[in-house]
Amino acid sequence: MKDFNNKVALITGAGSGIGRALALQLAEEGCNLALVDWNNETLEETKSLLSSKNISVSTHNFDLRDKDRINELPDKIIELHNNIDIIFNNAGLSVVGTVDEVDEDDWNFGMDILLNSVIQMSTVFLPHLRKRPVSAIVNTSSIFGLFSVPKQSIYNVGKFGVKAFTESLALEMEMAESPVEVYCVFPGHIGTNIYHASKFKSFEADDAGAAIFGANASTIEEAADQFKNNAPSSPEYAAKVIIKNIKKKNKRILIGADAHFYDLMNRLFPKHFLKIIWVWPFLRNLFSRNK
Ligand SMILES: NC(=O)c1ccc[n+]([C@@H]2O[C@H](COP(=O)([O-])OP(=O)(O)OC[C@H]3O[C@@H](n4cnc5c(N)ncnc54)[C@H](O)[C@@H]3O)[C@@H](O)[C@H]2O)c1
Repeated sequence: MKDFNNKVALITGAGSGIGRALALQLAEEGCNLALVDWNNETLEETKSLLSSKNISVSTHNFDLRDKDRINELPDKIIELHNNIDIIFNNAGLSVVGTVDEVDEDDWNFGMDILLNSVIQMSTVFLPHLRKRPVSAIVNTSSIFGLFSVPKQSIYNVGKFGVKAFTESLALEMEMAESPVEVYCVFPGHIGTNIYHASKFKSFEADDAGAAIFGANASTIEEAADQFKNNAPSSPEYAAKVIIKNIKKKNKRILIGADAHFYDLMNRLFPKHFLKIIWVWPFLRNLFSRNK
């Protein structure tokens, strides 16, 4: 997709982090916006940040686990905006705990948000996107959709699932010479609120996730603050990379030098990867940050 002017984009998780940054940057490009989030306060905050822009903005406050609300959404968006051109399936959070610690409810909660909502959103909007001259589905996985770490089995399965689903859909669209472009996004560590919003079954300062993110904290709150403030990339940088790559039609979008580093190390040294991931927090302090 070469430009976003006069298009209509739907963004899930638009109340915070990468979703909010995408909304602000797409608005700069003249893109009309349908914003989804289960947090009404932050959703309306994003809308108010867009008030000076000459675009149409609608807000849709619901939990993406609500299948009926997702099924009703395409008609609602067409009614409000006349068209739909791009879907950003961006919302997400983590459930952190060992396989022993998480239970069936945790798995259902995590899978419904991380994976099932992405599949359902992509499916219900596909017939509408097919009618447009050019359109796009942009699904957000993670570097944790490329390799697994301890205590993130739910997040890992959800994000590997997003990658698998998105790649299969992309091939189907290509084979059918469909106008629907399909992108998969793999952010590295981005300074957002996701750590604050995630569900912790247990917390240890020295677990592998904390090592990747460079945290050295004794409480979840402290770790969440460090996760947000010490990240190598900002949500604004992430949104910029996503938009730039969609314009170039790069379907596999890695965000941040850390994402490229982990992706490469995991391919080169799959057996010793857990030892290698400790190196990055040290290395990244030698380089400037992506703001
Ligand atoms: N921040 C990172 O380091 C990082 C790394 C890899 C992948 N990601 C992915 O990037 C995406 C954006 O995350 P972020 O870092 O901007 O996080 P964030 O917490 O800042 O924003 C996520 C937004 O999604 C919303 N949301 C969560 N569950 C929802 C639900 N069930 N229904 C509706 N809205 C819901 C939240 O309210 C929030 O506004 C997520 O899919 C996340 O998994 C983030």
